[in-house]
Amino acid sequence: MLTDMPITVGKPITIDGDTYFIERILDIGGLSRVYLGINQKNQEKVAIKEFIYQNFYNKLTHENDIDDFFDNEVINTQAQARSPYKTMKVLHYEKRLNLETPEYYIVFSYIEGKTFLDFYREFIQSCRGLAHLDLASIVRYIFLPLVDLLDYCHNQEYIIHRDFSVKNIMIQTNEEGDFWPILIDWGVSKYVGPEWIYFTPKPYMTPEMPRDIPINQKGAPPEIKFGYMPTAASDIYYLAHLMYFVFTGGIMREDSEILSDESYVLSPKDVNWFIPDGYNEVVRKMTQYEPADRPKNMKEVRNMLEELVNIQHIHFDFEFFMLEPDTDELTGERISSSKEPN
Ligand SMILES: Nc1ncnc2c1ncn2[C@@H]1O[C@H](COP(=O)(O)OP(=O)(O)O)[C@@H](O)[C@H]1O
Ligand SMILES: [Mg+2]
Repeated sequence: MLTDMPITVGKPITIDGDTYFIERILDIGGLSRVYLGINQKNQEKVAIKEFIYQNFYNKLTHENDIDDFFDNEVINTQAQARSPYKTMKVLHYEKRLNLETPEYYIVFSYIEGKTFLDFYREFIQSCRGLAHLDLASIVRYIFLPLVDLLDYCHNQEYIIHRDFSVKNIMIQTNEEGDFWPILIDWGVSKYVGPEWIYFTPKPYMTPEMPRDIPINQKGAPPEIKFGYMPTAASDIYYLAHLMYFVFTGGIMREDSEILSDESYVLSPKDVNWFIPDGYNEVVRKMTQYEPADRPKNMKEVRNMLEELVNIQHIHFDFEFFMLEPDTDELTGERISSSKEPN
């Protein structure tokens, strides 16, 4: 029996032959803890993801699923990193199986930057001073690169990310003020293979359709919530939910709002009356209930987004919306205002 200590802040750990000093915790989630480590050999920063063994116990099968989840995350993170785009890399990984509680570690390249959530909050705040939010820049410099990476994943690797959220996108910046995204957390990504990736019969959720683990994230498309096979169109829905978040000043779909199939369709204009129609239409198309009714692939999404940013250079007045909404935050109804012109 090895007597290796589990990972500890302020101490070194050796994973797959390389030793890292553990600086601090970056994040603690339900299934993992992520630490900032420094490679003792070359001072390179890394992110070390430690899987929490007990939390992978499957109550239905009475087995622990950690091995499958671990292998899946390693393999799919490596797959997306083969793309020609900016990505997070797997540097090392190690399973320690001959312990009372097995330990599982993945060492990733460290992504210096902020989560998309923190980036967006700051973006909004700094834009408020200028009294406008430059939506076109976010589409151009954040959404378009993500569309390209996902297009690669769908067409070359046949994997679906399936957890596209404000905390699974890191935003990097440089001194010139450029910014770009890195998609992280391939933890619930899935290899579906070439026959399934674009297979979207309508209706999609039928007894013939293969089932998969149901995932209950905010902004998940119906087929994922109800535990069906993910498809390229599922990532399209997740992406649109992020666009909805950006175009509404930070609103996410609430599960309590889902009253019917129709409520999966997101309309940023219902919340933010100042959003241009083109932006509203794109989000609506991408969030259709049936995968078959969404754009058919990421190339089509790219064309729609390019059209938006090329034709409409929008700097719309965001401050006005924040201070004096025209629509009710909860119901989305127009608020009749006394300042309405007579
Ligand atoms: N390579 C990385 N570089 C920098 N921060 C990271 C990296 N990987 C993860 N993080 C941070 O840790 C958080 C959790 O990591 P993630 O892989 O999303 O795990 P979980 O499956 O628990 O959501 C991320 O939201 C991010 O803030
Ligand atoms: Mg995550």
